[in-house]
Amino acid sequence: MESHTLYAIFGLIISLALLPNPTISTKCSFPAIFNFGASNADTGGYSALFGQIPPPNGETYFYTPSGRICDGRLIIDFIAEKFGLPYLSAFLDSVGSNLSHGANFATVASSIGPQDMPIALGGNSPISLDVQFAQFSDFYRRSQILRKQGGVFEKLLPKEDYFSQALYTFDIGQNDLTAGYKKNLTTEQIKAYVPDVMGQFSNIIKKIYGEGGRIFWVHNASPLGCLPYFLDRFLITAGQMDKYGCASPFNEAAQYLNLKLKEALAQLRKDLPEARITYVDIYSVKYTLITQAKKYGFEKPFIVCCGQGGKYNYHLKNYCGLNKTIGGKEIVISNTCKDLSVRVNWDGTHFTEAANKWVFNQIASGSFTDPPISLDMACQRN
Ligand SMILES: *[C@@H]1O[C@H](CO)[C@@H](O)[C@H](O)[C@H]1NC(C)=O
Ligand SMILES: *[C@@H]1O[C@H](CO)[C@@H](O)[C@H](O)[C@H]1NC(C)=O
Ligand SMILES: *[C@@H]1O[C@H](CO)[C@@H](O)[C@H](O)[C@H]1NC(C)=O
Repeated sequence: MESHTLYAIFGLIISLALLPNPTISTKCSFPAIFNFGASNADTGGYSALFGQIPPPNGETYFYTPSGRICDGRLIIDFIAEKFGLPYLSAFLDSVGSNLSHGANFATVASSIGPQDMPIALGGNSPISLDVQFAQFSDFYRRSQILRKQGGVFEKLLPKEDYFSQALYTFDIGQNDLTAGYKKNLTTEQIKAYVPDVMGQFSNIIKKIYGEGGRIFWVHNASPLGCLPYFLDRFLITAGQMDKYGCASPFNEAAQYLNLKLKEALAQLRKDLPEARITYVDIYSVKYTLITQAKKYGFEKPFIVCCGQGGKYNYHLKNYCGLNKTIGGKEIVISNTCKDLSVRVNWDGTHFTEAANKWVFNQIASGSFTDPPISLDMACQRN
């Protein structure tokens, strides 16, 4: 072969290598995660506001209460691990927080829309999604001013570039449904306000995009009707139970919210051309785990691990970690089950670390996302 032909071939190979190749995509490496949400993703916000979530929360992994309602790690912790990032500090926690690789704005009982029932009366968190966004926006601006001072601030706060390169994660909306049931609204009445709630959600995504956020990973609502909290707390008639033991009206409300969420995200992909938005079907993954627990190596999916009383080892007033004084003696009401690694439900509403890890593995694979891309490809164009 003549040498100039060889050069031509080499040249072709080199230029092919330099061209963006649509069939070879590189895995994402996010420098930071900014999370918005509620108890499924709170790593200390509620504890900072209202006092520490008590033991035995944290007993499997952190060996101390860690601001999470779980015996160990949450899905957001497994996401951070996946990208080699530290666990997210809560933005609201002024003690020991390191926000250099992201911040968590979630608090227990947060909803998308602001709620009027105070948390002390069994209502929702005052830190609804609009407040979480205000905190994020303020954090962005002030962190950059402080970083310029150098020293420790440079080591505690994110670089400006991180805000456009970060993964933005969302797990919020379930409490907008719960808030309605607490007011004794019917499932039909609750469904009627879901489109408005989704409008509020879309507005926040647009605002984050306006601040430079591009990559969004959005969890949908869980099958609420399969959770002992719902099964015990709200009135259900026999005809409303499905063949697995879940209450259909609550699941119907969650599925309706998920349908509207999916539509809202489809519209956002059109409105925000540079965004990469992934819809994550947590509902299906959790429903599969609860209804086919044995098949996946789990047991007693409806029996609460840390609780006491009733059909589900659960009672709202005897919640996980509560101590009661009986006959002058303090008694820890909520002892933990011994077989945590095969149990699904931690406290009536939240999942065990083992279940969270299982759910994480399913969603990270890309089998339950729209578009069907794995978590480490979430930065690729849809
Ligand atoms: C309940 O009692 C246990 C054991 O004495 C203690 O570790 C825990 O902090 C107490 N919880 C609360 C909420 O006071
Ligand atoms: C904050 O965390 C990052 C990443 O783990 C680390 O490099 C940095 O030194 C920490 N900052 C401080 C002040 O410890
Ligand atoms: C909802 O109904 C229950 C049972 O009838 C009642 O005890 C409760 O006060 C009602 N709650 C509200 C917010 O109206």
